[in-house]
Amino acid sequence: MNAVLSKFKAPKGTFDIIYPDSENLEMILRIGYETLILHGYRRISTPIFENTQVFVRGIGEDTDIVTKQMYTFEDRGGESLTLRPEGTAPVIRAYLERSLHSSGVPQKLFYFGPMFRRERPQAGRYRQFHQLGAEAIGSDDPAIDSEIISIPDAYFRKLGLKKYRVIVNSIGCVNCRKPYVTFLREFLEKVDAELCDDCRKRSQKNPLRVFDCKEETCARAISEAPVISDYLCDGCRTHFHSVLGMLDALGVGHEIEPRLVRGLDYYTRTAFEFIFEGLGAQNAVCGGGRYDYLVEALGGPPTSGVGFSIGIERLLRAIDLEGIKPVKLPRLDVFVAAVEGTPREAVLRTLSILRSASLSADTDFMGRSLKAQMRHANRLGARFVVIVGGEEFERGEVVLRDLDSSKQCTLKNNELIHRIRLVIEAKSGANNE
Ligand code: HAM
Repeated sequence: MNAVLSKFKAPKGTFDIIYPDSENLEMILRIGYETLILHGYRRISTPIFENTQVFVRGIGEDTDIVTKQMYTFEDRGGESLTLRPEGTAPVIRAYLERSLHSSGVPQKLFYFGPMFRRERPQAGRYRQFHQLGAEAIGSDDPAIDSEIISIPDAYFRKLGLKKYRVIVNSIGCVNCRKPYVTFLREFLEKVDAELCDDCRKRSQKNPLRVFDCKEETCARAISEAPVISDYLCDGCRTHFHSVLGMLDALGVGHEIEPRLVRGLDYYTRTAFEFIFEGLGAQNAVCGGGRYDYLVEALGGPPTSGVGFSIGIERLLRAIDLEGIKPVKLPRLDVFVAAVEGTPREAVLRTLSILRSASLSADTDFMGRSLKAQMRHANRLGARFVVIVGGEEFERGEVVLRDLDSSKQCTLKNNELIHRIRLVIEAKSGANNE
């Protein structure tokens, strides 16, 4: 590598996705999209930046994301914009702006794309990461909560993953949270001296968030704290029990985790995470829940919603840890080698004919000798080499070499595709037997 160029590095907390990882990513996305489409979700793509207020109002101004992690900038027109730290608030912005309710509710939408949070980078925590997420907007039916939880479960099973747990909780609504927060604050005042600075602030502004603190001293101090599930109002309790019953009916194994709270303020009632063994501190591969006030927070009418997002980098790591090989990388069908002196146009024409017949094909662009071209074809894992040039070229023929059997023959140009197809089909037939 050129020493001058190599001083540039990807920004901290970001990375390049390079073949074959890029191939694994494509494969897991394809299965993810198929799973979502099977459940009746349709894709939406929103811009990667939004007006900053979409996130401040949506996620909540006292959350860690909004206070510490957003990439916010003023553009040349003086507007405050933010690279999206998550996908739910933008989807709701689009739902309202485009009046998506008019084409029927619930609107079942999914998205994939990069998200940006200026967190302290560590394994599984990046500043640019990717989420595959889904949102069902417009229904408060507990059946849709259970559907939303069952989708990542179906998806992870399809991928062959086993070592994960689904944890669920209900964090109530405004009615039950108000009295609960009073009790929680009273408790936190008693243990104030044992809390970290952040949790002391949280206990004033957003006391539920103390359950999300990773400090051991805080965890100890709040081990006896009252939990929201003991304070749910009748409506929230009934809703939660229905969701759990439906998860049982769907065969989605789950555990109730009364201390599960989420890092975004928009949640109400159902909250859940998919936790993978062996991923270390950042072990949540998927998180989500219900957000019955978010649409109003962004200026819309009272509208329920529920959704999830999967962290794709963590999912790829989980797949790797479980030893799953996502894709058998496709081979290059044909490498077109040229005898010295053969017109480049003849090589390009052969390539184009092969590719038009849906055979993957490549050639030499480095002026290599025929021997070096054969070595390169092997390095690329090609199945066949077609040699263009020499006397055969004058007669309208090419040499076809099968790199698996090391046999070769001379063919008329117009027989080439047919012969390659015959060999490939015979081979795939034998593999399927
Ligand atoms: P979240 O829990 O903040 O929820 O993120 C969802 C998932 O994104 C996490 O479980 C994790 O796998 C991944 N993730 C989050 N931050 C990072 C990071 N810095 N580096 C790598 N992966 C990360 C949400 O974003 C909500 N919008 C989910 C939702 C959708 N709720 C309702 N609908």
